Amino acid sequence: MSTKASHSIGWIGLGRMGEAMATRLVKAGHGLSVWNRTASKADPLAQIGAEVVTDKTAMAHCATVFTMVSTTDDLKDILFGKGGVLSSNARPKRVVDMSSISDSGSAEIRKGLTEAGVAYLSAPVSGNAKVAKAGKLLVVASGPKAEYDAVQPLLAALGRSAMYVGEGELARIWKIAHNTMFGVIIQSLCEITLLAEKAGIPRHVFLASINDSVLGSMYTRYKTPALVNLDFTTTFTPKLLLKDMELGMGAAKALGVMMPTASVTRDSVLALSHQYPGDIDFSVLLLELARAAGMTLKSDNIEVSDGLK
Ligand SMILES: NC(=O)c1ccc[n+]([C@@H]2O[C@H](COP(=O)([O-])OP(=O)(O)OC[C@H]3O[C@@H](n4cnc5c(N)ncnc54)[C@H](OP(=O)(O)O)[C@@H]3O)[C@@H](O)[C@H]2O)c1
Repeated sequence: MSTKASHSIGWIGLGRMGEAMATRLVKAGHGLSVWNRTASKADPLAQIGAEVVTDKTAMAHCATVFTMVSTTDDLKDILFGKGGVLSSNARPKRVVDMSSISDSGSAEIRKGLTEAGVAYLSAPVSGNAKVAKAGKLLVVASGPKAEYDAVQPLLAALGRSAMYVGEGELARIWKIAHNTMFGVIIQSLCEITLLAEKAGIPRHVFLASINDSVLGSMYTRYKTPALVNLDFTTTFTPKLLLKDMELGMGAAKALGVMMPTASVTRDSVLALSHQYPGDIDFSVLLLELARAAGMTLKSDNIEVSDGLK
């Protein structure tokens, strides 16, 4: 049992993303103290040399605490809740939150941390756990520039690059915009794949051609194996995608920006999240849209590259 983290870097949240990202820091040679609500998820980190602490308050002794949890409320709970990081007199120098949360929630967290004398960086990411493992994550940060400069080498070690976009919660807006497009693209990719398949083009052939066209991207390539082989092993759940589409719609309303395509996609993801509320990948959207198109899909059952090697 540890009451004081022994490393200067702490990591809270070892879900799909957090585990992959914390692992990269350890493998890059950084000493890391970790905490996760479900303690067993820290085992893989312990095996590669991270210190596992059993009490979040131990993290207040780190200079830098990274957080990667689900929602704004979870982050508030971890920092300010009962037994939270700030519940003792000790304070970290800074918190770097990498979760996908709202800009308004993030601003409240910044206020609370600033009042407690703790600096705060918003640092969401682009890419899933597989992308993180492959070292291809993009980190986009906002907040005090000096704080960004202080942790830039750590952010860079997490993926292929880190970018600073400005003060305050601008990185949240970046992520909200990014994930709105993330939803719209999977909706469109599923729709056109079904269109092509119903007309007679095999799914793997159609997706290979899109990936090789001007429309192909890292995203369309890494979702291709799931769509071809109907392998919906979770990378990101319908529920988390719905949260992000809702954040997109909220930002659109607040800023007075019309987003008709995103709005339709949000409704589609809402229906998907009712149909698949649990632990399944959001690309299961293909099955839902197939059902609506009167199609019953079979796995193509062939090995296809995810483009990440
Ligand atoms: N998966 C992706 O492709 C992806 C990509 C980019 C960004 N993101 C964002 O990254 C964040 C994490 O996503 P994920 O896919 O890693 O989710 P996940 O696998 O569900 O992990 C969520 C993590 O948050 C912890 N957590 C949630 N509520 C908590 C609470 N109240 N107190 C303490 N710990 C709590 C969970 O602890 P337990 O283990 O105890 O449940 C777990 O460690 C989300 O904001 C998501 O939108 C995800």
